[in-house]
Amino acid sequence: MFPLTSSYNFIKRSVVGQCAFQKTKFFIQHFKFQQSTFSSTNRGNFKTATSKDVDFFLSLLGKSRTIQDVDELKVHNTDWLKSHQGKSPLVLRPKTTEEISEILQYCNKEKLAVCPQGGNTGLVGGSIPIYDEIVLSMNLMNEILHFDENTGVLQCQSGCILESLESYANEKNFTVPVDLGAKGSCQIGGNLSTNAGGLRFVKYGSLHGNVLGLKAVCANGEILDCMNTMRKNNTGYDLKHMFIGSEGTLGIITEAAILCYPKSSQTAVAFLGCNTFEQVLKTAQIVRRQLPELLSSLEMLDNEAADTLRDNLKLTVPISKHPFYVLVEISGSDSEYNEKKLNECLNLLMEENHISDGTIATDSTRMKALWSVRERITEALLHEGCGYKYDISLPLKHFYNLVKVMRRRLGTKVTRCVGYGHLGDGNVHFNATTKEFDLEVLNLIEPFIYEWTVQRKGSISAEHGIGYKKTKYLCLNQTDAAIGLMKSLKRLMDPNGILNPYKVLP
Ligand code: FAD
Ligand code: MLT
Ligand code: ZN
Repeated sequence: MFPLTSSYNFIKRSVVGQCAFQKTKFFIQHFKFQQSTFSSTNRGNFKTATSKDVDFFLSLLGKSRTIQDVDELKVHNTDWLKSHQGKSPLVLRPKTTEEISEILQYCNKEKLAVCPQGGNTGLVGGSIPIYDEIVLSMNLMNEILHFDENTGVLQCQSGCILESLESYANEKNFTVPVDLGAKGSCQIGGNLSTNAGGLRFVKYGSLHGNVLGLKAVCANGEILDCMNTMRKNNTGYDLKHMFIGSEGTLGIITEAAILCYPKSSQTAVAFLGCNTFEQVLKTAQIVRRQLPELLSSLEMLDNEAADTLRDNLKLTVPISKHPFYVLVEISGSDSEYNEKKLNECLNLLMEENHISDGTIATDSTRMKALWSVRERITEALLHEGCGYKYDISLPLKHFYNLVKVMRRRLGTKVTRCVGYGHLGDGNVHFNATTKEFDLEVLNLIEPFIYEWTVQRKGSISAEHGIGYKKTKYLCLNQTDAAIGLMKSLKRLMDPNGILNPYKVLP
């Protein structure tokens, strides 16, 4: 038996689509800043902000919320991966839905383009201006509005930081249904606009299912109040879904009603070592079958990811070296029951030779340490120089083949090929790195990786969105008819195209 009351280590000793895209100088998906990357899109026919426009915003928001300071502008013009620097001369910091309404009404009339920005942790270039769009920062829209302890419905402004919402919900013995490595900076509005997946998806599912209502401001400044808090509400078209996952191209989300869940009092994390990917798949299958009511996360990383953590962050895996590691989190209300179920599951995995080493943690410090091995891979990769980042959904039988195929294809041209991701959701993150940006490497990866994925009925963007970086590949996953309808919706909701131009749609 593995006692769950304390941390415990165990080890088994014996144990394509139709569209055509050109291979242009469209260098994308690499971390290191390359101004040339974004030169293939022409600036739209928008007005450049004048001093008269600035005066309008100053009169509406005051000096402290109308930012023109060069250093502050730089922060808002640069994405998290430092892969692009926009040229916005102006950042606006509204505090209310009504202020956003006035801003958009004005921008729409004056044909000024706007880039909505949350925590700016997005990984596909959606949150930064491409040219001189005005940045609409949601940083000050961070009020919690209401919490219903009977239903768990949390209403808040969209600029609330995800981690703050989680702490708030925890105080009420609830938990929010989304969690990700960027939780300390990303905002719920950004999560909704990207329909973020993350680490709890396997338990709570998509935000489309966990958002009961929202308030949004349309391109013309009209306020659309869909702040429903009822679990069931089949009254006509469910318009909130238009804003979830549309990456700020159809409206600005200003408030949301999120369904939170009672917090499990007993949690445990197991970190397991597997020698083959077949063993990883078998482990996932058995964990799902043995722990259906307890499973709250099912994640994986490969040894190259572990090496990246060790080399760049001095963070080591807590068990002996293996080609693959699986992280299982369970959450329930009865520690004895959890212990029994987890023990039975791990014993089975050991007996059947699917895992050969592992460690379990139940105290929060150690669980956090185990989680950081998975959560900090993105940060570790940033230290490699130049990265090529992919976020792919695949049927599980193909999940790790992608990494193998890419590793063979790229050979010694890259420093590393790393695979990690949300095993429970069929979402693999493939990342390659080089010291300097290398066009040959990029051309070896793209469009090959996307075509390979689509041939296996996968998705070229499982959770990060399309943003600016993947627009030309949207056609691989969506039909012409679907893209046509998306464009019609965009024209209907934003006829002047001022909301987050150059993003999502090709
Ligand atoms: P931003 O990056 O500021 O914006 C993202 C998009 O939403 C942009 O298009 C922006 O214009 C739009 N937007 C932002 N706020 C609003 C609003 N209020 N109204 C309308 N549009 C808006 N993503 C995952 O899905 N799963 C993960 O596990 C995950 N892990 C991550 C780990 C790390 C370390 C990092 C750096 C990123 C990770 N991401 C992950 C990507 C990113 O954190 C998510 O996409 C997140 O949801 C973005 O939130 P944000 O507030 O930072 O939004
Ligand atoms: C993750 O799951 O860690 C995130 O989606 C970020 C990444 O892809 O690196
Ligand atoms: Zn992810």
